[in-house]
Amino acid sequence: MTEWQKSGWRAKPRVQMPDYTDTAKLEAVEAQLAKYPPLVFAGEARRLKSQLGAASRGEAFLLQGGDCAEAFDQFSANAIRDTFKVMLQMAMVLTYGAKVPVVKVGRMAGQFAKPRSAPTETVDGVELPSYRGDIINELPFTAEARVPDPAKMLQAYTQAAATLNLLRAFSTGGFADVHQVHGWTLGFTEGENASKYRDMANRISDTLDFMTAAGINSDKAPSLQSVDFYTSHESLLLEYEEALTRQDSTSGKWLAGSGHMIWIGDRTRQPDGAHVEFARGVLNPVGLKCGPTTTAEDLKILMSKLNPENEAGKLTLIARFGAGKVGEHLPRLIKAVAEEGANVTWVCDPMHGNTIKSSTGYKTRPFDSVLREVKDFFAVHNAEGTVPGGVHFEMTGQDVTECTGGVRAVSEEDLSDRYHTACDPRLNASQSLELAFLVAEELTARREAEAAAKVG
Ligand code: PEP
Ligand code: CO
Repeated sequence: MTEWQKSGWRAKPRVQMPDYTDTAKLEAVEAQLAKYPPLVFAGEARRLKSQLGAASRGEAFLLQGGDCAEAFDQFSANAIRDTFKVMLQMAMVLTYGAKVPVVKVGRMAGQFAKPRSAPTETVDGVELPSYRGDIINELPFTAEARVPDPAKMLQAYTQAAATLNLLRAFSTGGFADVHQVHGWTLGFTEGENASKYRDMANRISDTLDFMTAAGINSDKAPSLQSVDFYTSHESLLLEYEEALTRQDSTSGKWLAGSGHMIWIGDRTRQPDGAHVEFARGVLNPVGLKCGPTTTAEDLKILMSKLNPENEAGKLTLIARFGAGKVGEHLPRLIKAVAEEGANVTWVCDPMHGNTIKSSTGYKTRPFDSVLREVKDFFAVHNAEGTVPGGVHFEMTGQDVTECTGGVRAVSEEDLSDRYHTACDPRLNASQSLELAFLVAEELTARREAEAAAKVG
């Protein structure tokens, strides 16, 4: 393989990227971004890689979640805090219920660019370019709003930097201290999941009181006081990614400085395409979405390109087949991985294969399908003797009505109440907690089956 360069993707076929018309402006923006500080550091990306390696062996579990698309007009400290709270709650459910360390990765601080199923959108006979995320163009349906503007990359960088700054403060400044386990509850989350969470939080508080009485306080156990929280996004807009790529002074390797983990989407995973070319050269952990059209042959090529040294934790395969289709596709890809002896971390994205149009015209995802895909994912891994390493999903701490179903049932008629996503429908806090309890049950059942097998 030829030596990698951060600009090497430019010689490869690209899809899902904008055609900027103002090249002088584009170059000026790229030059400016190239001078800005990276958002993340190589040591952090390496630490995440090693934690994802643990997840690939069943010694940890990845929880990756956040917006489908971050938006400039929804940027606020409260929105970041609330998403972070839900992630902490979910992580606590998994740690407490399933007794595994949880690797927490937000779809945050850089998740701005969106692949689209069609390049244009037609409304009332008017055809315009599709909206591609706030880092590229604007959502309103006007010709002006849909023109890609390179300067939006600078605004995205600023928002990502401020988001990450707040996340770092929340992670280590006391907010994420396990003694705050009751404080992460959001005001509007009532119902069965909220009371299940409260019961669990009470038991945790009791345990902490016992530990304090026994002389084990946060000073002696600093891991109770803070969490590691990482960022991730789809590395779709390669001009932005390249401009933030930096050489690591200690190893000489290249770091995508835009986020700790990047992934390649289901529409941009062509083995000879621009997106794979960019991702193959960076030291960060890389995710690869695998859908119904992923062939075993392509997967083998992609694994050797994206993880040439076969490092544990380097490559995460994010399965997104759709409820009812996991049994058809996951086993054939697991077989391809086994045939190559490849190290991968298997993760389930139960969102992107389950998007439908509701009778009321909204894009939605039935929560039942989301849960069913997670169950199918665990069932296949249990049958194959492989490791389910995590979940990846779209959620928000805001009380939205975007996915139907759940304990606080959202109906198709309710969707219009609080439908705020800039792109795909997200789970709300209550649905996210319900999902976490289901995953904890699945993980507990696996642990018990493994323990029984050892005894037997
Ligand atoms: C996404 O994660 O928002 C996305 C577009 O996913 P996929 O590439 O799997 O369709
Ligand atoms: Co999405």
